[in-house]
Amino acid sequence: MAFTPRVFSGIQPSGDLHLGNYLGAIRRFVPLQNTHECIYCVVDMHAITVWQEPEDLRRRTYEVAAAYIAAGLDPKRSIIFNQSQVIQHAELGWIFNCVARVGWMARMTQFKDKAGKNTENVSLGLFAYPSLMAADILLYKSTHVPVGEDQKQHLELTRDIAQKFNHDYRKRLKVLGFDEEYFPLTEPVIAGPATRVMSLRDGTKKMSKSDTSDMSLLYMMDDADTISKKLRKATTDPAPLPEAVKGLEGRPEAANLVAIYAALSDKSPAEVLAQYAGAGWGIFKPALADLAVSVLGPIAAEMRRLVGDRAEMDRILRDGADRARTLAEANMKEIRQIVGFVR
Ligand code: TYM
Repeated sequence: MAFTPRVFSGIQPSGDLHLGNYLGAIRRFVPLQNTHECIYCVVDMHAITVWQEPEDLRRRTYEVAAAYIAAGLDPKRSIIFNQSQVIQHAELGWIFNCVARVGWMARMTQFKDKAGKNTENVSLGLFAYPSLMAADILLYKSTHVPVGEDQKQHLELTRDIAQKFNHDYRKRLKVLGFDEEYFPLTEPVIAGPATRVMSLRDGTKKMSKSDTSDMSLLYMMDDADTISKKLRKATTDPAPLPEAVKGLEGRPEAANLVAIYAALSDKSPAEVLAQYAGAGWGIFKPALADLAVSVLGPIAAEMRRLVGDRAEMDRILRDGADRARTLAEANMKEIRQIVGFVR
């Protein structure tokens, strides 16, 4: 069956937003509004899989929503809301907990990284996290999910859950007259030069909210001086920039800064190198800092303005949640029937 193309993505309000979130996700959400029906969620229920101070959770929920809008998402065209306002996410998440297998969850590298040696003591929610993520996506029968590379495995699992649900309930789907492919097999959209932005201190480590060194991350709310300082101090090797992308092989820090420049300027790494071949870091880093400040500065200013207007943010999130709930409930009515729940 042909599904209506629909984009869904989400970001956890669990730490301050950084350049990886912006380049790997938010910036790429914006142009999709021109071609697709889009739903962008602040996944607060995912965030509490690890402890969140309630006041921080609230502040960051507004911040993520503000970042969406400040980066160019239009709340009239795209649906923007926070997950916990649409309780159908939890309802379908439970059903998927009963479709997914424990072994599938245990293989998730993100769970293994987050839990470390502490697997007995992390929350049950952290373990089941990917089935709630599958519910976020499939609740709307979403066909495309723009994310950074670190989410690839979760999206493969989403496809496995969709496939198993379609298979387990195939007789019931037939009896009720639904298509045998009830849920779509969602396509990950992992594209562009910055699908994996690396730490500014170590080009082999992903830029991540959980990094303890502030100098390794550029935050979306950093001021111009801080952005310049962090980029000037970014770890690099001594060689100048090469002429071609092949010359970045084995130079993870150089490759990362070129990728960041490319993503911030909507160019390819090859185009950036055509401009800067042979340049030393004394030239490239200040140019990158200027570019980053010119792109991130206005977004941070708009984020500050928006988070200061709680009434307006509440209105936007409530309106988005109402629209999302209408879509979600129409599908949930069918899903309850398919599963055999009495209503
Ligand atoms: P989260 O909140 O960790 O990250 C949000 C988005 O930012 C991307 N990202 C990066 N991209 C490039 N380089 C990096 N260093 C980098 N760090 C983070 C992530 O890939 C993601 O796209 N499980 C998700 C949230 C989620 C979700 C969903 C996403 C819940 N439900 C449904 C899509 C669809 C997460 O933890 O993202």
